[in-house]
Amino acid sequence: MTEATSPHAFWLAGREATGNTTFEVTSPWDGRTVGHVSVPTDEQVEEAVAAAAAVAEEFAATPAHVRAAALDHVVTRLGERAEEIAQLISAENGKPIKWARGEVARCTSVFRWAADEARRFNGGDAQRLDSDAGGTGRLALTRRFPLGTVLGIAPFNFPLNLCAHKVAPAIAVGAPIILKPAPATPLSGLILGELLAETDLPAGSWSVLPVPNDRMPALVQDERLPIISFTGSAPVGWSILDSVPRKRVTLELGGNGAAIVLPDFSSEADLDFAAQRIATFSNYQGGQSCISVQRVIADASVYDRLVPKVVAAIEALATGDPGDPATDVGPLVSEDAAKRVESWVDEAVAAGAKLLTGGKRDGATYAPTALENVPADTRLGCEEVFGPVLSFTRVDGEEEAFAAANDSQYGLQAGVFTHDVQAAFRAHRTLEVGGVIVGDVPSYRADQMPYGGAKQSGVGREGVRYAMEDYTYERVLVLTGLDL
Ligand code: SIN
Repeated sequence: MTEATSPHAFWLAGREATGNTTFEVTSPWDGRTVGHVSVPTDEQVEEAVAAAAAVAEEFAATPAHVRAAALDHVVTRLGERAEEIAQLISAENGKPIKWARGEVARCTSVFRWAADEARRFNGGDAQRLDSDAGGTGRLALTRRFPLGTVLGIAPFNFPLNLCAHKVAPAIAVGAPIILKPAPATPLSGLILGELLAETDLPAGSWSVLPVPNDRMPALVQDERLPIISFTGSAPVGWSILDSVPRKRVTLELGGNGAAIVLPDFSSEADLDFAAQRIATFSNYQGGQSCISVQRVIADASVYDRLVPKVVAAIEALATGDPGDPATDVGPLVSEDAAKRVESWVDEAVAAGAKLLTGGKRDGATYAPTALENVPADTRLGCEEVFGPVLSFTRVDGEEEAFAAANDSQYGLQAGVFTHDVQAAFRAHRTLEVGGVIVGDVPSYRADQMPYGGAKQSGVGREGVRYAMEDYTYERVLVLTGLDL
């Protein structure tokens, strides 16, 4: 990826625009310039928000086939430009190219689902009302209508796909969207804008505005943006909700995902499989995923055989240049992020944790790391590390395992390695999380399924259809005097 000669434009009400200032996007791997991005002025942001409000009624009335065709177009173009976009994600985020390719594939799936759902959504629900005498001759039809313009605020860790999770459902329901990509990784969101600009979506129905974070509160407060879909850190997310309690706010926040290994998952093949999955998904994208494995909670009967297998699998991961297809683990998003992870690990070790592997930093790269006996009152023991670090906990039996997993302020997803279907149902009933993944790590996510957290991990759900419901509200039509 070479330095762009002129700054990347942003997308204002569906057309390219530039502001008065720019900022630089650099590679976390080698610090090279990936591009410069033009920053919208306050007046341009106002123009985008006003255009969205002005087009809202027209967009809501757009036939489903028009919205679906636009979404289908994005699917096609993502396919055609997949490698270029994956290279861009890798360059601006530092994500290994193999994971960046996977992200483009997932983004394609999000838009494909959105096109399908746009065709199906809102078929209407009919309810007869003549169950009471006063309702004789009456019928209720319920349809969903967009609540207004969506403000989508996306994070850096999946710079394309988590933009897609905001944008595609909005288009599917005919709700205008203002997308704010993460300042560290705006180029992937802007490229989504390029693809949308090739469609016939009405002007004003979408904008991609790379505004800095300190200008986010003004957007959050804007009454013309009644829906906020935020993915990012818990403190920022909850402060958004606290500042606009009457808006519809979806928060996809942090987690400290637990992988639970129950006693029946005990053959050599079982433990080899669990170890491989745990090692991979503790470290994918440098652990910078809200559902990466941070805690391994293993039954005492398998613990001593599992731990060396996981450590060996971690040590076999290839760390290095994210552009190399062989690389498993690249840098974190910045050197500051790696320094923070380093300080959390050092704090845990000073408090008595035992380092099993890793624990070293080189610039923005932090070595895949595993520890045991991490004290619960250290930051590593109770916060989201968002880095390539896991800790092991030994437990006795299923009840203790589930209690240990629940002993967290977070509750996004949990993975349960078991073959026992009854244990799977007990896990589903007991674990205080938004998703229980049986037979695998908590990091599994299919983009159409409901995704979101319990406790401090957030409110609301993403996943194409669930976001479409979030962006709309039910309006009932009662028909009277019918010969039913
Ligand atoms: C996240 O980090 O919340 C998103 C994880 C994913 O989409 O796989």
